[in-house]
Amino acid sequence: MSINYSEKIPNNVNLTTDRTLQRALEHWQPKFLEWWGALGPHDFAGNDVYLRTAVGVDAQGWASYGSVKMPDYRWGIFLADAIPDRTIGFGDSYGQPVWQQVPGEFRAQFRRLIVTQGDTEPASVEQQHLLGHTCPSLYDLRNLFQVNVEEGRHLWAMVYLLHAYFGRDGREEAEELLARHSGDADKPRILGTFNEPISDWLSFFMFTYFTDRDGKFQLKSLAESSFDPLARTCRFMLTEEAHHMFVGETGIGRVIRRTLEVMKELGTNDPGAIRRQGAIDLPTIQRYLNYWFTSSLDLFGSEVSSNAATTFANGIKGRPDESQFEDHVCADASFELDVPDGQGGVAKEKVPMRNAMNEIARDAYVKDCEIGVKRWNMAIKRAGQDFQLALPSRRFRRAIGAWAGVPTDQAGTPITREAFERQSVDWVPSEDDRAFVRSLMQQVKEPGKMAGWIAPPDRGINNLPVDYEYVRLN
Ligand SMILES: [Fe+2]
Ligand SMILES: [Fe+2]
Repeated sequence: MSINYSEKIPNNVNLTTDRTLQRALEHWQPKFLEWWGALGPHDFAGNDVYLRTAVGVDAQGWASYGSVKMPDYRWGIFLADAIPDRTIGFGDSYGQPVWQQVPGEFRAQFRRLIVTQGDTEPASVEQQHLLGHTCPSLYDLRNLFQVNVEEGRHLWAMVYLLHAYFGRDGREEAEELLARHSGDADKPRILGTFNEPISDWLSFFMFTYFTDRDGKFQLKSLAESSFDPLARTCRFMLTEEAHHMFVGETGIGRVIRRTLEVMKELGTNDPGAIRRQGAIDLPTIQRYLNYWFTSSLDLFGSEVSSNAATTFANGIKGRPDESQFEDHVCADASFELDVPDGQGGVAKEKVPMRNAMNEIARDAYVKDCEIGVKRWNMAIKRAGQDFQLALPSRRFRRAIGAWAGVPTDQAGTPITREAFERQSVDWVPSEDDRAFVRSLMQQVKEPGKMAGWIAPPDRGINNLPVDYEYVRLN
């Protein structure tokens, strides 16, 4: 289905056939633009940015590239093509036809899921809204803005569902999505991680690697939903999302590559010497990784969750890549997980599989996170350095679930609170670490030039050279 760009709101959902809906969304549009102008990357509103815009929903050739001023970006509503005769893929109604409307009895659950997902999208734009001032290159600045405009579009995706399928409550929720703000004391964003400011680019790369990847797995679960419009919306969002994780993985990889160059030049692995040379030492990178990985783990929710069991049973939210499993009903399957034994140790607990759906999604997420870590470690090994990055245990530093508030070391072995406090300076970024990383953040705006703490990318965007002027700042 092609996208209609001749309308105010580009879409492939035939918006013109539903005047009421169209008017409601056209009413919301100026509020979105106002929000973008106030809390998005507004200091760059007048600059030309080389951005991709969705022009179709085929996996091949879905985007066109060109120079755009961000406020003129065409945010729209795009659903992946319907799968003919699609049936429910999991839960109690397995095998029945999917739903084109929200069943009344599941309305509240669907609305909550859509609002929670929708809330994260503008939150990340708000968290990153000042980063442009310290970009390490024009290439990176462009990638930041690409991520920002697409998160803006993901907000549109959820707002469309709220308006089209949830009547008045949906319209009210759509307003609220612009009323809550990241870090706002009175009206914060719903999820904790999305209230942390992202004030340096190492954090931005960690966020796009770890936190956007949580988004990927949430979307994969929702792409399995029996509510077909939600499934189709999420399937297309995943297409855009891949680039966000690419930005994270290559961003961290380039920081590491630069550090390795400096280590080689200096012939040392002394963090102080590396820092004096303006690069980020590997132990600091590990601490940032620990921080963002563990806070992203919490986004999957509790290991054992009756809510997760209900949404699975009802066909609302599946497991990521549901087709990889054999049993899609899980009526009497069980799952074994690690819980604190109450005496400072770890015990096994067997729970009904349906109650462990959050943990199953988290498993898939952790596996996916490991891929990048392996690649980064290969680069470190090739450089002849005796250091390996590692994901900490999923029991480490948790604030939600069975391990919430249980002090453990990075390997997940329970330790005393006092031992945890003493060693946490080696495990998570200290104020000194953050101040040092912030001190490196200086805007580099000459095409092709990179800040001293990051290596250039292997290639540019859409076959353009690395030294292309991806953002015209003057
Ligand atoms: Fe998103
Ligand atoms: Fe994203």
